[in-house]
This record gives sequence, C-alpha cells and structure tokens, in this order.
Amino acid sequence: EPPKLVVPKALSEAEEEDDGKKKVTIFFGTQTGTAEGFAKALAEEAKARYPQANFKVVDLVWRLGLVLMSVVNLVIQGKEDGDSFKNLHYGVFGLGNRQYEHFNKIAIVVDEILAKQGAKRLIPVGLGDDDQCIEDDFSAWRENVWPELDNLLRDEDDATTVSTPYTAAVLEYRVVFHDQPEGMPSENGLANGHADGTASYDAQHPCRANVAVKKELHTPLSDRSCTHMEFDISGSGLEYETGDHVGVYCENMIETVEEAERLLGLSPQTYFSVHTDKEDGTPLGGSALPPPFPPCTLRTALSRYADLLNAPKKSALIALAAYALDPSEADRLKHLASPAGKEEYAQYVVAGQRSLLEVMAEFPSVKPPLGVFFAGIAPRLLPRFYSISSSPKIAPSRIHVTCALVYEKTPTGRIHKGVCSTWMKNAVPLEESPDCSSAPIFVRTSNFRLPADPKLPIIMIGPGTGLAPFRGFLQERLALKESGAELGPAVLFFGCRNSKMDFIYEEELYNFVKAGVISELVLAFSRDGPTKEYVQHKMAQKASELWNMISEGGYVYVCGDAKGMARDVHRTIHTIVQEQGSLDSSKTESFVKNLQMTGRYLRDVW
Ligand code: 2AM
Repeated sequence: EPPKLVVPKALSEAEEEDDGKKKVTIFFGTQTGTAEGFAKALAEEAKARYPQANFKVVDLVWRLGLVLMSVVNLVIQGKEDGDSFKNLHYGVFGLGNRQYEHFNKIAIVVDEILAKQGAKRLIPVGLGDDDQCIEDDFSAWRENVWPELDNLLRDEDDATTVSTPYTAAVLEYRVVFHDQPEGMPSENGLANGHADGTASYDAQHPCRANVAVKKELHTPLSDRSCTHMEFDISGSGLEYETGDHVGVYCENMIETVEEAERLLGLSPQTYFSVHTDKEDGTPLGGSALPPPFPPCTLRTALSRYADLLNAPKKSALIALAAYALDPSEADRLKHLASPAGKEEYAQYVVAGQRSLLEVMAEFPSVKPPLGVFFAGIAPRLLPRFYSISSSPKIAPSRIHVTCALVYEKTPTGRIHKGVCSTWMKNAVPLEESPDCSSAPIFVRTSNFRLPADPKLPIIMIGPGTGLAPFRGFLQERLALKESGAELGPAVLFFGCRNSKMDFIYEEELYNFVKAGVISELVLAFSRDGPTKEYVQHKMAQKASELWNMISEGGYVYVCGDAKGMARDVHRTIHTIVQEQGSLDSSKTESFVKNLQMTGRYLRDVW
C-alpha cells in the first residue's frame, strides 16, 4: 500500500491571501543542486510567460525536512477539497541515472500516488538520465509543459501572447559591495550549528571540526594515494553511529581560485554580499530563500561556495554568452547551448571533460558580473559524502574518513584533481601544527547497520575504499566483544590491486582476525599475479559457506563502486542463492528481493 500524500497546510492556502490568481507551486528536492536549478529556471520562464498567475518555488527538504531527492514537481492548485487532490494539476520530472538500479523511482512513485489520489496529470512523468544529458531531458519535458499551461493559465483574450518567442532569463543575485570590515567575524561562513547555540547539526548548520590526524594509507610503491583522516568532534555535541556518512564542505585549491579571480578580472579582496531579494525586501524570483552565503571576500567565496571544476551546464553557457564582449564568442556559446549544437556540446564539454574554468579561459572576452556568476554560472560547491570508517564505541570524539585521491588526466591534457580528496591529501593535522586545517562537517544517517543481534553471521564485501564502513563495523564488534558479548561469524572480502601497494589498513585487519572479530579474511589482489582476482571470484569459491551463513539468518553488506563492483557482486549473490538453494530464477529473484526488503542485504555504494 503506497503512502498517502498530503499537501501540508503551510504550503497551501493558509500562507497567503487569496488574490484570485491561479497558483502554481514548483516543488523541488535536490541532492546536488541540479533539481534546484531546474526548478528556478522553470519558475523564471513561467513567470515571464504567465504574469497573470502566482508562482512559488518550494524546497521540500529545506521547508519540510523531507528526504525527497532529486525531483521537480509542478503543481497547479485549485481550491483544496479535504485530502483529495481532485483540484490539482501536476507534472513530475525526476533526476536519475540509468546506471543505477532504482532509476527515477521517487519521481515515478510520486507521479503515481498523485494520480491515484485524484490529481490531474498534465504530462507524462519526465525521467531525466544523468548518464546522458539531463539538461536536454529537462528541456524536452519543459517544452511539453507550456502548451498545457497555456490551456490552464491563459485568459481567453490574451491568445496573442502565446506565440511570443521567449528567451530564457539569466539567473542573477543582487550584489552589494562593502568596505571590508575590521576583523571580519563573518568570514567563517558556515559557522558552528544554529545561532541559538543548540548543537543539532545538518547540511545547513554544519560543525567546524579540526583535522586531528592525517595519514597516507598506500605504500611508497603505489603511484596512487589514499588518505586516512580524523576529524576532532570532541566537545561539539556532534554525534554519529557506526555505518553513518559524513558530509564535508571542503575548499577549492588555491591554484583553482586564483585562476577564477584572473578570469573574472576582480581582486581577491573584493568584499561583497549576495541577496535573493530586492532592496525593498521583496523576493527576486520564486520565494525568498536565505542568502546562499554570508558576506565575504571574493577569495573566500570562490574557495568555499563555487563549483569551478565541473562541466558547465548549458544554462551556464547561455549566461556566459550574455556577457561576452566579442560577438563571435557569444554566438559560439549560444550555439553550444542550443538544440542545434547538441552534438558539439557532447563533444566539446562532455567528452572533452572541460571544466567551467577551462571553458571560460577559452572565451576570454566573457566577464560576467558576480551576481550572475554565483547565481547562474558556477553552481554551489556541494559537500562531499564519505562512509565513516570508525565506530563511536572506539572513537567517540573522532570521525574517521578513508578517501582515495582523484587525480586524472582529461582528454584536453588537464589534470583533474578531485576537490575534496585533494583538500584531504593536503590537509595539515593538529598533530603537526596548532594552525591545522578544519572543515565544516555534518553527519548523514544511513541504514547501513550491524544486526541488532551480534550472534548473527555477517558477510562484508568491500574492495578498495569500500572497506571504510566495515572498519567501523569491526571496531564496533571489538567493543562488543570486550564488553562480554558473544559474536557470530564474520567474513570480510577485501580486494585491491597489489598486496604491497594499496592494501589499506593491513595490520589492523590482521589484528581484528587475531582478536576474533573477523572469522575469515578473504583477499583478492587484481594486479598481483597473472590473472585478475576480484572479490566476487572469491565469493563464488566460497558459495556453500556463504549460503549456510545466509540460511542461518545472516546479513550481507556491500560497499564501494556501484557501476562495476556492486553490480557484479549482486549477480554473484544471485548465482550463489540460485545454485546453492536449488531455486529457479524467479524464486531466486524473490529470495534476494526479500533479503533486501528485510534489511538483510544492505548496500552502501556510489
Ligand atoms: P582493478 O582496478 O585491477 O580492475 C579496488 O578498487 C579493487 O576493485 C581493485 O583491485 C580493482 O581492480 C577492483 N575492481 C575493479 N572493477 C571491479 C569489479 N567490477 N568487480 C570487483 N572488483 C573490481
């Protein structure tokens, strides 16, 4: 039975006077900011097209604390009628990736539930696919929205405006330049927790934590790098559970920031604030959201709040075009963002893996103002999430992170350095200097948990940095054991390239074996011998043992790369269940589904 949706009163009529205008609300739930950008662009265009209607943009997560991720939902409200939605018209667009198992599940479910509860579906649910070009998917969906809105919102007599060509508005913040205040107390930006001093932290109210410890986990023989880092959370009130994630707001590298300053042609000391309202306090667009970041210098804003190294969106190219002094550059940028330039965008931006800064450097006449740059060109720099690699039972005042360095050569010859992994690699720990690195962090709860009964068998599969949450699990089991609990069997499958290069936490793992916290450590080295050995090959060799553990009520955990490893491991689990349980393929399917539904097959994958 699907859950029933209700329109919370706060979002409906209670909030504003009935001015007789038709109301359109655009809800978005965003994880990376893309849905938010789409929602705002949709609102801007819709407002320009239909001045006779009232538009509102609502961030579901921010307003309601709902975890409704990555959807844009357009709802046109008539009068409410109890819990029924029969006076609502709606359309849903989901943002997903076909590579993942539950492709756009939330959008599909929301679309179905609204229909079931009597709302009128304006257009079929849009299924955006980030594996291709999600902006194009959204544009296609949006083009189908307008004829429907024409029917609903236009008055009979303004049919003439229907054919008016519309050019997308460039998003812009209002900017105020200030003299730099003495001492600059607000430079700390995302400061500790809430203003009232309560220690409940979340993405909007992170906790600034010092880096206490930093270590390289690969040996000098390795040409790659993996950082072990410990954030000090003592006295902060920040709490976590074994298996949770930590969100980290890191900063861009100084070389990236300096390049952005050069391209914008502004001094790093420029002190300014951005606003989403007009000078008289009325909202600029949608509903007024809090200012995206506090007053600060350009150096700070570029370090902390601007995503400079991802590919520019098409909407960013349009915004850049509007500020190109050289008309040929403007034309080229507009072409790249247009339907006719689709192939060239796919080649030049996507296949070339060009970053925003790289594109700006190739269009040197473009000098966008700061309000446009931060609203419509550079998305916000988002927190990066990591599976916490410690347990509060062993490390109550520390959050451990295990992070592989992203360092790749792109097709244009640029070296792409991952923003957060590079920041971690270069961080200065308190052990080395009192002037250590720190970052705003917060904890995201997960469902990746050990069974409540420690006697139940567990199977852990975590190659590479997929080992991270299992290190937390093992610490927790060690603490349980030391407090007298009886532990069930635990098999850990770990894989890496080479036993002498990237076998992270090797000594600790052997100590867990010695302590009886791991009953069997199974290793797969993919580049040690003549043939590639992966964790799933080792699982297949132990099929009957694993089947016995599952049959005894055991739990299966997988952590790591979603597209390759977790998919292959999933197939292997199927095979084991099918062969060992002598089940046909549909019984196997439902057996594995049941394991997932009952929380006995859990995945923490990315
Ligand atoms: P490879 O890089 O040599 O192919 C951690 O990254 C380990 O996971 C490495 O040994 C890596 O091997 C391996 N790996 C890569 N693709 C995998 C897959 N599809 N299934 C399981 N392991 C994989």
